[in-house]
Amino acid sequence: MITGASDGIGLEAASQLAAQGHHLVLVGRNPAKVARAVERLRTESPDAVVESFVCDYAVLDDVRRLAADLLAAYPRIDVLVNNAGGVFDKRTTTADGYESTFAVNHLAGFLLTELLLDRIIASGRARIVTTASVGHSRGTMDFDDLGLERGYQIMRAYSRSKLANVMYTRMLAARLGGTGVTATCLHPGAVATNIWAGAPAIAKPVLGVAKRFLMITPEQGGATLTYLATGPEVDGLSGGYYEKNKLKEPSALAQDEVVGQRLIETSRTLVGLT
Ligand SMILES: NC(=O)c1ccc[n+]([C@@H]2O[C@H](COP(=O)([O-])OP(=O)(O)OC[C@H]3O[C@@H](n4cnc5c(N)ncnc54)[C@H](OP(=O)(O)O)[C@@H]3O)[C@@H](O)[C@H]2O)c1
Repeated sequence: MITGASDGIGLEAASQLAAQGHHLVLVGRNPAKVARAVERLRTESPDAVVESFVCDYAVLDDVRRLAADLLAAYPRIDVLVNNAGGVFDKRTTTADGYESTFAVNHLAGFLLTELLLDRIIASGRARIVTTASVGHSRGTMDFDDLGLERGYQIMRAYSRSKLANVMYTRMLAARLGGTGVTATCLHPGAVATNIWAGAPAIAKPVLGVAKRFLMITPEQGGATLTYLATGPEVDGLSGGYYEKNKLKEPSALAQDEVVGQRLIETSRTLVGLT
């Protein structure tokens, strides 16, 4: 199961996983884009089973509905890839009143994972993979102003959300010890995807050049996801942060268990989990 599967890294990873013959469930927010993604995968890999769900990660009720639909549809979930994400040039809030970057990139995936966790554990040697970013290393975690009401900047918000991805992965891996389920996260590289459309207008000319000459392709970015989702090399390995299929040490803050524990407790409160 892959979120953010309608475009970019998620779509390419889905294509690679379909080619491996897996039963795939794509999740995206735009029904027409999701339908196109399903059609592409079915054409490329006629033997693969490809199904889809639509969910807007900016609406936590929609995430709850998605989780209920998935639990009703699938008696087992072997791989959950939390990949949906974006950047927001200006500070906006979601339907639930949370800053959009933190809500879409962290809270929604956090809630989905928590709601599916018992089913994932019951599925045996399952994997939970999250697309984080090297940008996590510049992230801070100010619990008094998580939504950056003071001093919002696009990269401050993005780095914080990606730091939350790495912290949650590590805390989850510790919690899942002994279950056979692993939790890992990754930086896919600087990838020429649609995510950069959300960058400020002033940065777009430079980004256009970078996309063309410096960034890797979505297929290459998706390959790191595919590696963590099904690669035999990482079977049983949990808690790691990966770049280019190599284990890397995340930032010191990402490894701070006190801050990590507070992030989990705060996230549970924000999404209404008791
Ligand atoms: N590109 C990079 O260089 C880079 C580097 C580090 C990390 N990442 C991470 O990689 C992940 C995938 O990004 P990408 O580069 O592949 O960008 P992308 O091409 O824009 O794909 C993002 C995916 O997330 C979905 N999404 C965005 N907002 C959503 C929402 N509110 N509800 C549900 N789905 C939503 C998008 O849906 P739509 O198709 O409807 O837009 C799309 O399927 C993100 O988590 C990003 O932070 C990317």
